[in-house]
Amino acid sequence: MKSIQERIGELKEKKNAVILAHNYQLPEVQEVADFVGDSLGLSIAAQKTPADIIVFCGVYFMAETAKILSPHKKVLIPDPEAGCPMADMLPLEELRKLRARYPQARVLCYVNTHAAVKAECDLVCTSANAPQVVERGFAPGEDVIFVPDQYLAQYVASKLQRTFILFPGYCPVHVAITENHILEAKAQHPEALVLAHPECRPEVLRHADQVLSTEGMCRYVKTSPHRAFVVATEVGIIPRMEKENPGKRFFPAFSGAICENMKRTTLEKVLVSLEEEIHEVTLPQEVIEKARRAIERMLELSR
Ligand code: 13P
Ligand code: SF4
Repeated sequence: MKSIQERIGELKEKKNAVILAHNYQLPEVQEVADFVGDSLGLSIAAQKTPADIIVFCGVYFMAETAKILSPHKKVLIPDPEAGCPMADMLPLEELRKLRARYPQARVLCYVNTHAAVKAECDLVCTSANAPQVVERGFAPGEDVIFVPDQYLAQYVASKLQRTFILFPGYCPVHVAITENHILEAKAQHPEALVLAHPECRPEVLRHADQVLSTEGMCRYVKTSPHRAFVVATEVGIIPRMEKENPGKRFFPAFSGAICENMKRTTLEKVLVSLEEEIHEVTLPQEVIEKARRAIERMLELSR
């Protein structure tokens, strides 16, 4: 009897499919993926792949981004209920209200947003390129509405010494990491460097040695001469870090930082969606075209 991994492998070949997985996915899902990365890397991989089918193991907005960048490919999401609560905090009507309140402002939206929201913004960014996109995409004094993550926006504002019009969105997983968690982890592992994701609260970021996207963290720990790290992000990234860096030690800042939505994707669901070609991501053509402009502009600016 063939293993589930073997069956997925055979189907991938037969259907010319590729599996893309986010760094927070379950280890066994990352294992069958052709590419594992952060939101930026996954967007680029989706844009470049010659495959006919993309099985996207992540949350819905990421699979939508893949569809926007590769509209002629079939994009499947193994569990269509895998949403992002931060993206859900900003329905399109809320963005329209903000636009009406600040008609002179341009809009920058974090990739963690629904496709319909991206379609009505000027530029997109991810955690990997936000400061660079702002510096290259907007003039210094320009009014910019930065949605939906207030903490990412505040981090970029402090780094670039500018202000944004904010929206009170946040990631429930990252805001659950507190300053006390970091102080305790530092006390327990004084030799460790602290890595934090920019979705964390400012009082957490204040203690970070490095503020990085998930892929930025994976790259950093490989080349760093340090041997121990406190990791302030979703804990699913740690098995990959351990596997790629034998002998180095990784401690979660808070072991309860788990994104349940990212864990909805199982190997069984990957197999079924690929076998039956179900849970296809579809979007109105107009949304695809408008959102693609903002995302492609981001990709140009972050080269
Ligand atoms: P990255 O793009 O850094 O992987 O972050 C995505 C995300 O959803 C973090 O919560
Ligand atoms: Fe959304 Fe937070 Fe989960 Fe990332 S970790 S997908 S921002 S809920």
